[in-house]
Amino acid sequence: MGINSLQFRIFAGFTLLAAVLLAVLNTYPIGLTRNQMILAKEVEMRSDFGALSAALESSTKLDYDTAGSAISILDIGRSQRVLVTDSGGRVIYDNLKTSNIIDKIVLFPEVIEALDGSDVFRCNYDAEAFNYRIACSIMKNGSIAGTVYAYEYDTESAGLLAETQSDIFNISLSVTILAALFIFTFVTTLRRRFDRVLEGVNQIGQGNYDYRIDLRSGDELGLIAEEFDRMSGQLALNESTRKQFVSDASHELRTPLASIKLLCDSIMSAKDIKVDEVREFLADISEEIDRLTRITEGLLYISRIENGRKMDGVCDLTHTVVRAGEMLRGNLAAAEVDISYDLPDDAYVYGNPDMIYQVVFNLIENAIKYNKRGGSVVIVVRPGEERMVLSVCDTGVGIHEEELERIFDRFYRVDKMRSRETRGTGLGLSIVGQCMEAIGGHIEVDSTYGQGTCFTAYFLYAPEPEEVDE
Ligand SMILES: Nc1ncnc2c1ncn2[C@@H]1O[C@H](COP(=O)(O)OP(=O)(O)O)[C@@H](O)[C@H]1O
Ligand SMILES: [Mg+2]
Repeated sequence: MGINSLQFRIFAGFTLLAAVLLAVLNTYPIGLTRNQMILAKEVEMRSDFGALSAALESSTKLDYDTAGSAISILDIGRSQRVLVTDSGGRVIYDNLKTSNIIDKIVLFPEVIEALDGSDVFRCNYDAEAFNYRIACSIMKNGSIAGTVYAYEYDTESAGLLAETQSDIFNISLSVTILAALFIFTFVTTLRRRFDRVLEGVNQIGQGNYDYRIDLRSGDELGLIAEEFDRMSGQLALNESTRKQFVSDASHELRTPLASIKLLCDSIMSAKDIKVDEVREFLADISEEIDRLTRITEGLLYISRIENGRKMDGVCDLTHTVVRAGEMLRGNLAAAEVDISYDLPDDAYVYGNPDMIYQVVFNLIENAIKYNKRGGSVVIVVRPGEERMVLSVCDTGVGIHEEELERIFDRFYRVDKMRSRETRGTGLGLSIVGQCMEAIGGHIEVDSTYGQGTCFTAYFLYAPEPEEVDE
């Protein structure tokens, strides 16, 4: 695990935290308890031996018996060794029955300080015992007549304290080890799951769109994985659509090319061919070239829409319908189809005028093309509640229900032969659908097979522009 890895950082962070916590837990409470114990003992000893020295100050004599009786009256010194000295530091009383220092001079530092006039309390602590010492001066007639000195060697409390300390240490260490184990397992699992997500990202990066992370957990990482799987699913779909498109396009382009090749070969292999016959062949070739041109123009138009160029603008739908109708007048006559219009004076909608022309032109062209002899086409533009509505209805051949959803696909033609005869490429409705989507509208189709079809397109309203750019 690298120094930059999440795993390392979490673990290092935890170790640091645990070390600080262990250090604090193992020093602060114990130190506090120890200081409180010492303070309590100081208060106790100061009050006991302060009282003793006061009692001795008020007594007439300062000798073994006086000191002994004062101690027993005050009921102190049960756990301490108590000495009373005179002003020269000579021991005149010792509460130890087997004392051998009576009449000897004791010059403990505390005694010397008390002889100097200051009361002292000291405590030494090691792991085994508290060693308390106190010395108080005895004043008589304004001068120091002696000292009271006591000391206590307390191993019991020290033992208790040491035990508590080791208990705290053991408990905190166990908790730390348990937490470390937990964190380690957690981090390792997390790492493994991260690795799986990472592997998924890599696979997508290498173009393997079928790869699924499939983490299946409700946490944040699971959500990321789920989102990722959805994304790769979408990419896989896009990729297969793209492949399908390339294969369809090549196929569509190959057919006219094959015809051209065949026609050329026929001309070249024919002996003594007449000029009229050559013309006939050339006319066929020209038609195939027109077809190729229509397909490539359609494809170019689609790629222009996909690249998102020039979608905005304002356009008068009424004007566009009239223009497209005029362009298709020849088709009408050839198909023996009647056309009627119901249009408002103007109908301004959002969208690039050329795109909207493509929509209108393709819908009307289809309505004429897939009609019956003597049939009719009705075109209506009317302001709807939220959208401007264009409907193009015909009394033509109609479309089977199961084919309705496919007619907007590229190159899709219900009847290939008929479409070919009528110079269709199968790109018209695909362009219509994409244009409508690009300008923020949508299109619906309703058809009864054998009776007719109605396309209804919904456009966004636009305010009337000062100058319409067509
Ligand atoms: N008004 C209509 N009536 C019946 N069928 C239609 C109509 N418009 C489109 N179609 C069907 O949908 C197919 C796709 O239309 P389109 O994309 O414009 O291609 P084409 O180049 O064949 O016109 C057509 O081949 C046709 O079968
Ligand atoms: Mg068409």
